[in-house]
Amino acid sequence: MESLLTKARVPGTLALGSGSWPLATVCSLLTLLGLRLLDWLSSKYYVATCLETDLADITKSYLNAHGSCFWVAESGGQVVGTVAAQPVKDPPVGRKQLELFRLSVSSQHRGQGIAKALVRIVLQFARDQAHSDVVLETSTVQYSAVALYQAMAFQKTGEHFVSIPMGLGGLSILHFTHSLPFAVEPGM
Ligand SMILES: CC(C)(COP(=O)(O)OP(=O)(O)OC[C@H]1O[C@@H](n2cnc3c(N)ncnc32)[C@H](O)[C@@H]1OP(=O)(O)O)[C@@H](O)C(=O)NCCC(=O)NCCS
Repeated sequence: MESLLTKARVPGTLALGSGSWPLATVCSLLTLLGLRLLDWLSSKYYVATCLETDLADITKSYLNAHGSCFWVAESGGQVVGTVAAQPVKDPPVGRKQLELFRLSVSSQHRGQGIAKALVRIVLQFARDQAHSDVVLETSTVQYSAVALYQAMAFQKTGEHFVSIPMGLGGLSILHFTHSLPFAVEPGM
């Protein structure tokens, strides 16, 4: 959110150059609204894509697939959080990587440490399977997720733009890696 406000202040500051406070305020508010809309649209698209692909058949995608797994967090008999993991097909030479997917916690249960617990489970699973790294992709508009990964010692290892309009709106894909120092080297 802080980052969203920072972005919204930029056009406002530029408009201030015109000497008009009302114009600067309108520019900032319109930018904030645009960024919120972009955030909302990207999460709608993300959920729709997940439900049409791997989440359409979790057993096939994760539970029956070798080296993959899917976990849920429950509260009062309801699923309130999910996370999945799948080995990376073509990791860099000498690495054995596990990719973390589909981390999500229901909005009513956020801020209670559920995501942190789910990520720790994936990290332990990766250690048990002798992976050298856990990798994942997120986006610049998933502020809570970015804060979570950084708080859990994931390092940003790359960034790419999905498209020019998305890039102009401040949306890019971030790559994060958490290296497991005590993992057994592949082949040992
Ligand atoms: C990202 C998400 C999974 C976090 O779930 P959560 O259960 O609320 O997270 P936790 O309570 O375990 O938080 C763990 C840490 O993440 C960081 N964090 C989480 N939410 C945050 C927020 N809104 N602002 C800043 N930091 C945040 C903090 O470092 C927090 O540790 P702390 O509480 O000790 O400070 C949840 O917000 C979510 O489902 N978002 C929508 C889906 C999504 O973006 N998924 C990620 C796909 S890559």
